[in-house]
Amino acid sequence: MSQQVYPVPAHAKEQSHLTPQDYARMYAQSVEDPEAFWAEQAKSLDWVTAPTKIKNTSFDAHNVSIKWFEDGELNVTYNCIDRHLATRGHVTAFIWEGDDPHSHDIITYHRLHDEVAKIANGLRKLGVGKGDRVAIYMPMIPQAVYAMLACARIGAVHTVIFGGFSPNAIADRVNNCQAKVLMTADEGLRAGKQIPLKANVDSALAEHDCPSMEHVVVYKHTGNDVNWGKNDVCWDELTAQCSTDCPPEVMNAEDPLFILYTSGSTGQPKGVVHTTGGYLLWASITHKYVFDYKPGDIYWCAADVGWVTGHSYIVYGPLANGATSVMFEGVPTYPDVRRIGQIVDKHKVNILYTAPTAIRALMAHGDFPVEGISGESLRLLGSVGEPINPEAWQWYYTTVGQSRCPIVDTWWQTETGGAMITPLPSVTAMKPGAASHPFFGVQPALVDGQGNELHGATDGNLIITDSWPGQARTVYGDHERFVQTYFTTYPGTYCTGDGARRDEDDYFWITGRVDDVLNVSGHRLGTAEIESALVSHSAVAEAAVVGYPHDLKGQGIYVYLMPNEGVEVNEELTKEVSNWVRKELSPIATPDLIQWSSGLPKTRSGKIMRRILRKIAANEYEQLGDTSTLADPSVVDTLIEQRLNR
Ligand code: WT7
Repeated sequence: MSQQVYPVPAHAKEQSHLTPQDYARMYAQSVEDPEAFWAEQAKSLDWVTAPTKIKNTSFDAHNVSIKWFEDGELNVTYNCIDRHLATRGHVTAFIWEGDDPHSHDIITYHRLHDEVAKIANGLRKLGVGKGDRVAIYMPMIPQAVYAMLACARIGAVHTVIFGGFSPNAIADRVNNCQAKVLMTADEGLRAGKQIPLKANVDSALAEHDCPSMEHVVVYKHTGNDVNWGKNDVCWDELTAQCSTDCPPEVMNAEDPLFILYTSGSTGQPKGVVHTTGGYLLWASITHKYVFDYKPGDIYWCAADVGWVTGHSYIVYGPLANGATSVMFEGVPTYPDVRRIGQIVDKHKVNILYTAPTAIRALMAHGDFPVEGISGESLRLLGSVGEPINPEAWQWYYTTVGQSRCPIVDTWWQTETGGAMITPLPSVTAMKPGAASHPFFGVQPALVDGQGNELHGATDGNLIITDSWPGQARTVYGDHERFVQTYFTTYPGTYCTGDGARRDEDDYFWITGRVDDVLNVSGHRLGTAEIESALVSHSAVAEAAVVGYPHDLKGQGIYVYLMPNEGVEVNEELTKEVSNWVRKELSPIATPDLIQWSSGLPKTRSGKIMRRILRKIAANEYEQLGDTSTLADPSVVDTLIEQRLNR
């Protein structure tokens, strides 16, 4: 690990929200007297009824219950839109940059209000009301944000399904949360290619039974022909008859705002539930302090609204703070690898927040991605989604940030709602690759496998010992699974599933997942879901999936397969199985390496020893450890002989 320390640049201290002394004082108060601290912070939101009960939380595995501001009432969109209108309605909320470099659009807060109100009224007309679930499967266009906010306006609960997911994944999510409306577009555009969103929705609904689904609202984005069924509603026709006046529904702070499905180590993805008050406060306060956001800054979070990063740092956090954001439909490498830099220059972006995988992809082109780019508007860079290796950090710092911009390496999760462990630009001296210090109210600790707390400089399992307002409240429809997943491993604490190291200066370094969750290009995938897609192919008898170190993706997907009796294994079949996963699950789950084998290493009780498979996949087969408990140790020799990552 890099020992180099980069001091806070002088310019980052000027007019910043926080000094190091502020952070120390506020952090201490946030953990010593959370009631007082969060009561004060909650005043940054506009409440219909201000909360008097601040924190009511229990991590006790027998009774996990998380409530913040439970007697408060508010509407998220009032906070994200209406309250800015009187003085700042003309301010730009979004600068939309299309996939095609010639298409862009400006959405002021006034326009945002009107667009959201119209489609919110449209949803009401379709019979959507408070508590109903609405699925959103959209490209990165402003209508995706309008759709989310329209739900929040009328108290409906949205579940955004990433536009890269397949029909099966759409149907699973729709059915799990019993969504009654789905909002989509005819097609998306990525790197000049059409993405058949509506056709995917059609397949999802035709090939699966989705009894809850009543209407599909379709926005015409590319305008290409799509199939129109009897339950399909054209977005423009729906909103044409709708008023721009849509009174916001008054919501309790603990009413659900959205469900977002995310992968775990077992079973199907879980519907993580975030609620109204605590989530909004967390998204906005972290956005303000982590990016040191001030009015006038042009901020660009280059994520997709299909992930939690998009929810918290494209939509809810920035809008609650009245920010001006760039929203980008395309990919960093189209038309060529200078696209990110061109967008930065074109819109004079001050704050850029992206993922290590994107940084590494650009870095592979040397300095070319910034050739001809001035980049002088940038003052702050952010990283999120996976550990950033020191080389990528250095490249980001010197080449993109011109050794001038602090980097905030923000560690968090879908379940945490927003940033948890992160440098603060005016406070934290940076160590490349370190997530650094906890945000206000966050109490991280390291434990060994038995749950004993470890002190001082050490490696361990990362847990959080008390609740924070942005925390997920439950798994949709399955609170028991929520309890089991997060609160039983180390009873009384929240188990993150990540490993971490704390160094001599109390900096946290996230080392990656300690469970069977993969992080491929910043996308979270459960080995269990990939295995389940694999064994649903007729040629496959058994499958085991592990991650292995991958230069660009962080982790690659290594698949071990046992064929069914009589199946002839050849290259064509391998290709077919790979495509099968793409189609069943998502292109992001495409295996990188597929190794066929007549056996897998199992214990005598039949449990696959993944530890061994991980070592072979990482090409570290010389340190396999104890293999004496295997039913048939010779399987391992064959696997090593035929290993694919050399
Ligand atoms: C997992 C959560 C954070 C929102 C996007 C991903 C990994 C995330 C970092 C970071 C090292 C990181 C962790 C975490 N992760 N940020 N800065 N450094 N690892 O959310 O899909 O819920 O994934 O991403 O392993 O558990 P997610």
